[in-house]
Amino acid sequence: MCGIIGVVGSTETLATLLEGLQRLEYRGYDSAGIALVHAGHTWRARTAAGTESVAALRVECEGAPQDYRSGIGHTRWATHGAPEAVNAHPHLDCSGHVAIIHNGIIENHSELREILTGRGHVFTSVTDSEVVAHLVEELRGRGLELLDAVRHALLEVRGAFAIAVMDATEPDVIVAARRISPLVVGTAPGVSYLASDVPAILDRATAFYAVNDDEVVRLGPEGFRAVDLEGAPVRLRQLQIDWDLETAEKGGYDDFMSKEIAEQPHAVYATLLDRRRRDGSIVFDELRISDEELRDVKRVVLVACGTSNHAAQVAKYAIERWARLSVEVDIASEYRYRDPIVEIGTLVIGVSQSGETIDTIQATREAQRRGARVVAISNIVDSSLAREADAVLYTRAGLEVSVASTKAFVAQVAALELLALRLAQLRGTLAPEEIDRLLEGLHSVSGHIATSLGRRDDVAGVAAQLLDAHDYFFLGRHVGYPTALEGALKLKELTYLHAEGYAAGELKHGPLALIEPGVIVVAVTTDPVMHEKILSNVAEVKARGATVVAVATDDDERIDAVADYVLRVPATQSMFAPMIDIVPLQLLAYSLARGLGRNVDRPRNLAKTVTVE
Ligand code: G6P
Repeated sequence: MCGIIGVVGSTETLATLLEGLQRLEYRGYDSAGIALVHAGHTWRARTAAGTESVAALRVECEGAPQDYRSGIGHTRWATHGAPEAVNAHPHLDCSGHVAIIHNGIIENHSELREILTGRGHVFTSVTDSEVVAHLVEELRGRGLELLDAVRHALLEVRGAFAIAVMDATEPDVIVAARRISPLVVGTAPGVSYLASDVPAILDRATAFYAVNDDEVVRLGPEGFRAVDLEGAPVRLRQLQIDWDLETAEKGGYDDFMSKEIAEQPHAVYATLLDRRRRDGSIVFDELRISDEELRDVKRVVLVACGTSNHAAQVAKYAIERWARLSVEVDIASEYRYRDPIVEIGTLVIGVSQSGETIDTIQATREAQRRGARVVAISNIVDSSLAREADAVLYTRAGLEVSVASTKAFVAQVAALELLALRLAQLRGTLAPEEIDRLLEGLHSVSGHIATSLGRRDDVAGVAAQLLDAHDYFFLGRHVGYPTALEGALKLKELTYLHAEGYAAGELKHGPLALIEPGVIVVAVTTDPVMHEKILSNVAEVKARGATVVAVATDDDERIDAVADYVLRVPATQSMFAPMIDIVPLQLLAYSLARGLGRNVDRPRNLAKTVTVE
């Protein structure tokens, strides 16, 4: 999940790299670096200053040559090797001519390092990435041009990479390649660009192209040409990019997180817009599965990580209830390695905001390999997950920059519930009028989220009372359970405080032992069917001295008697409640984090898109 950028042929190389790195910082920010090349000379700067790495790099670059026309830049999220300047990219070969940046993990780096060291190469970092610089050096030494040297080097490498390589002795060329980790190429007259994410080069390039796995691209001022690992020419597909830079800016908010929380009504609205045809069928963004196949699905498996996994857990309740299909939700990183059973009729749904989370992609690939059909729920158009799936429903939440996910969650739940209703329709498990009624309910969610957002000051008031607390338990039943999990995750990510989400009924089987004065219990009590039971659970923790914060519906008259603080939300059909109930929980985590002086957009140790296993 490092960010990478490269430019060749530009008169503004340094500015392009520094601006791009600033925009990529959310992918990883342990350290940052750039290398510029010009006629046999390499100039490099690297810094390791945590969240200030790019700012520090800017200062380092004050003495950089201004007339170098090619360069590469990297912002790092450490995997192999501590987050120190010596491990920051770009890495150089022994001669200092070859410079490389890498996102991903080279799995056989130890063997390669041993072989290369045996041949006299001297390593200066403990990263896995540096082996590529020395491999390319060897192949250049045998007279291969840079494109072929990189291609051959990558044939020896196992693992995941988006990589860019320069050689000062061939200064007007950058060679980039990809396996698993994301990579795009951009062009403008006389200049070529590469980046891990489009926003990094959005205001510089005028056309954008997707690089697929095992493709190698030679970029020069005149444009690019791409080959596969065997050297056969390939065509890169042009991407339709309709963002402007403003969508990546904060738009007047203090931080991206508050902007993105505020955008949730629109995220749900946009995700549901124009999805229904006259015959009631749903408009997918890509559909390579027939209605018959969807109707004949026997079992559904959802795979996802983090917040997306919590959205998937909500979908389990909806698909089982409405489409009467058996549903399993798996943590993507577990699915692939447990020899999963894929029978005829297994539909696998990969849920990922970025569509680039390596665990989720590997899980859906494994499922496809075993014969499953895959539906992708992704927020990024043309993401790897979307490109490989048999059908795609895009969440149209817009660019999410803050590392902890907010608006993507509500959009994912909306998209998944839409899919659940389609499955119910095809299978005839719900009457058409019932589907209409539910769809109407789904469309009204956006307005209810807006109402909840309007109560942000109430939440901030409660947060101000809780600033000394250290332990949180989030409880819920039915779909309130994944909501509780997501509420706890937000609190953990943003405040660094201990927070656990639990199914309220499970409390008595262990966690109740931890309840004592000073512990905060946040209870999601909105489900009308489970109301009685969750109130009993609240009474159990209250009796043991916990401070209770309840998320309760406007019409709940009993809650004030059992809770210390009540965060009110509009009442809705229970299946839609997670999209509304999560709002006060996001705001609570946000207000506490601000009160504690945390960096809400960039929590320590985390990254927005996790492209390593
Ligand atoms: C990271 C992010 C989370 C996100 C998770 C899954 O851990 O910090 O906010 O939920 O990845 O990401 P995805 O892009 O697959 O939804």
